Amino acid sequence: MQTHEIRERFTNHFVRSGHEAVPSASLILDDPNLLFVNAGMVPFKPYFLGQETPPFANGTATSIQKCVRTLDIDEVGITTRHNTFFQMAGNFSFGQYFKEGAITHAWTLLTGSLAEGGLGLDPERLWVTVYLDDDEAAEIWEKKIGVPAERIQRLGMEDNYWHMGVPGPCGPCSEIYFDRGPAYGKEGGPAVDDNRYMEIWNLVFMEKERGEGTAKGEFEILGDLPKKNIDTGMGVERVACLLQGVENVYETDLLRPVIDTAEKLTGATYGKDNTADIRFRVIADHSRTGMMLILDGVTPGNEGRGYILRRLLRRIIRSARLLGATAETMQQFMNTIMDTMTPSYPEIAENRERILNVATNEEKAFLRTLESGTQLFEQAASSVKQSGSTTVAGDQAFALHDTYGFPIDLTLEMAAESGLEVDIEGFESLMAEQKARAKADNQAKKHGHADLSVYRQWVDEHPTEFLGYEALSSQSKVLGLVRNGESINEAHAGEEVEVILDHTPMYAESGGQLGDRGQLVSGDTLLNINDVQKIGKKLWIHKATVASGGLDLGSEVTVNVDGKWRHGARQAHTATHLIHAALRQVLGPTAVQAGSLNRPGYLRFDFNFTEGLSPAQMEQIELITNQAVDTDWAVNTIETSLEEARKMGAMALFGENYGDSVRVVEIGGPFSMELCGGTHVTHSSQIGPVTLLSEASVGSGVRRIEAYSGMDSFQFLSREAALASGLASSLKTPTVDLPERVRQLTDKLKAAEREIENLHKAQLAANTSKLLDQGVEINGFTVLTIQLPKGTSAGDLRTVATDLRGRLGEREGIVVLAAEDGQGKAPFIIGATKSAIARGVKSGDLVKLLGGYVDGRGGGKPDMAQGSGSKPEGFNAGFEALKSELAQL
Ligand code: SER
Repeated sequence: MQTHEIRERFTNHFVRSGHEAVPSASLILDDPNLLFVNAGMVPFKPYFLGQETPPFANGTATSIQKCVRTLDIDEVGITTRHNTFFQMAGNFSFGQYFKEGAITHAWTLLTGSLAEGGLGLDPERLWVTVYLDDDEAAEIWEKKIGVPAERIQRLGMEDNYWHMGVPGPCGPCSEIYFDRGPAYGKEGGPAVDDNRYMEIWNLVFMEKERGEGTAKGEFEILGDLPKKNIDTGMGVERVACLLQGVENVYETDLLRPVIDTAEKLTGATYGKDNTADIRFRVIADHSRTGMMLILDGVTPGNEGRGYILRRLLRRIIRSARLLGATAETMQQFMNTIMDTMTPSYPEIAENRERILNVATNEEKAFLRTLESGTQLFEQAASSVKQSGSTTVAGDQAFALHDTYGFPIDLTLEMAAESGLEVDIEGFESLMAEQKARAKADNQAKKHGHADLSVYRQWVDEHPTEFLGYEALSSQSKVLGLVRNGESINEAHAGEEVEVILDHTPMYAESGGQLGDRGQLVSGDTLLNINDVQKIGKKLWIHKATVASGGLDLGSEVTVNVDGKWRHGARQAHTATHLIHAALRQVLGPTAVQAGSLNRPGYLRFDFNFTEGLSPAQMEQIELITNQAVDTDWAVNTIETSLEEARKMGAMALFGENYGDSVRVVEIGGPFSMELCGGTHVTHSSQIGPVTLLSEASVGSGVRRIEAYSGMDSFQFLSREAALASGLASSLKTPTVDLPERVRQLTDKLKAAEREIENLHKAQLAANTSKLLDQGVEINGFTVLTIQLPKGTSAGDLRTVATDLRGRLGEREGIVVLAAEDGQGKAPFIIGATKSAIARGVKSGDLVKLLGGYVDGRGGGKPDMAQGSGSKPEGFNAGFEALKSELAQL
């Protein structure tokens, strides 16, 4: 049975019993605790916690959710069942049916005949587990369903108590396993062997809420959820593996074609050698995860989600190389996986080109890294060998990884090939340090401190109401004060504090738009609000300094947005939408937004695109943008459902959740339509002029445009104009002729410089012959010690010295020249003729001697050596010392 059909049978089974079918949410939801959606229940979290009422007719839903889990990335390809991307089919009851309902639904689908819409699994091969003390579930399985007691096992916290790894809903669970037979492992049920007995479905009896604690297990139970709920998850790829009779999840209909492609591209054969097979499976698994992440808007980067994507793509490239690929492979892998996945995810079709661009650019960049990393490794290896050691130090391996992006597994492998070891413990401890730093930095950057638990009470109970689309001022109540991660009751003059209000007109940083600036007033109390950030989607944190008076918890206050700031931010944000639209007109639909920043007067816009923009393209984008300003389009905002927004053709659907009401900002109808929560001008002409400043690369396949808007744009243009007219008047030429005039001047200047250089050389040559007269005879040597005029450069010294030495011919001559170069240095040079060298003179030694008198150093060969000092007053004494040295030779 094809995966697509399994999906359909699942959905139909639950829709028949009244569940509402809900489409998969994006892999990226706005939850600060989760990098990616990692379970089917994630989008439903607020309903479990009782924060929101489920919008489903019967209080039940079913979905097939895209999930990414990378915690077990090292298991991929080694076990038979670990996918980093998988589809979790689930049914959910929000306070409706509980244990008995969930168990019955799952059993009828799994064991129901194919003709009745079931999956037709043999009931005799199914085993179940329940939580230690969950007699109720055990009894339902045994009495109601008829599973023999010996195939019901009880397991502890680690296996049969489900939680998200972070605070949220949780509860005991019951899991269903399929016995693959004696060929796959020991007898004795899932408690003994979870390879032979493959887990296919987890039924969670969601009734508790967990607090802070560790990802894997230890945490506090905060209490009961408002209702008893059901959350289940059936692993679609695992069921596919069983129903398709293949050995593992990498050989199912969706992934096997990637393995086939890899065979073609690498020349290796799947199924012959275990190490090679693991690489094939890694390629298949990661190709799909990478593709699905790019589809949902992730681009490769060095932190967070971007880093995970980068790591996955690089592991593909690396595995292909190890299997024998010598050329690029990414395009073929992506094409294959897009073909198999498109029937279930039709949106892939319109994103094909973009996905290919992102993935192949990363491949190109990584292949360059591999090349330079290999060279660096070889250098490191040879210095290790030279030093007599056999171990590449941990910090060397870390530098290769950290600075050059060279993967550690490659370092290990190359080390082994050259008979070396790597101090892997040293490497890992440096990695751990770096990770800890990055994590703390990241959280601290936004919120000033890393621990967000202090906000929890307000996030859950008092999400902030935002009034700022209509109002610039509000009467609000102070619900919370936070300093250094601690909740406090009052703030005093001079202190910095974070203020939490019941409602606010202040925009909090999001969607690239910076938070508003403004003031909070109450009687004599005045706080300057310097920034506003959001926790999750719901809580506004006003970062403020108390300028005068004091602020108590519970105070009634007036909050005023700085109108000028807001005006500027609106101009910049709407300008960003116009530039985005213009960009796509000029560059085509693959130029998709990858990030942006808007603050009053300035904006930057990052987008996926592989080539640099030409001046002509930049001009066109600027022109279309300013024409859109000039047209004075109304800027409309429409609140609607995600589905409606999609139908309207609105762009940028990342991070939105099914059922969310979304805000579409529309300018000029189809010209620009984006999902956006930002604040905008009401008519495009209010933006004022927009000037593009620059365009540059900011990472593989991502480019950045910067621009000014409004008065800042005008001031920029006016400064440029003033500059041009200033230049024109000093060059006495009309502005239009400036380029030609400047060209003439530079030509003239170059000619004059050449002329001066020639004169200078002639002059040096003329003077040199006179210098020869200054030679003195010492011990049979002809010695010249001359200080040339101030301003003589080291280069001139060398020219004159070479000339003089030549003129000394066969004589035993030594030329010593020195000068002050006029820039604080005292260069000197010593040359010796062949016959002088034959008598033992070494210019290099003499230079060292002279250097001692002028606080200088130098060196060179016996025939010519050069140095530089900083105390020219020492030259005369130095000359005398040289002479007496020569006298004794
Ligand atoms: N939330 C549970 C899991 O992820 C069941 O859906 O396994």
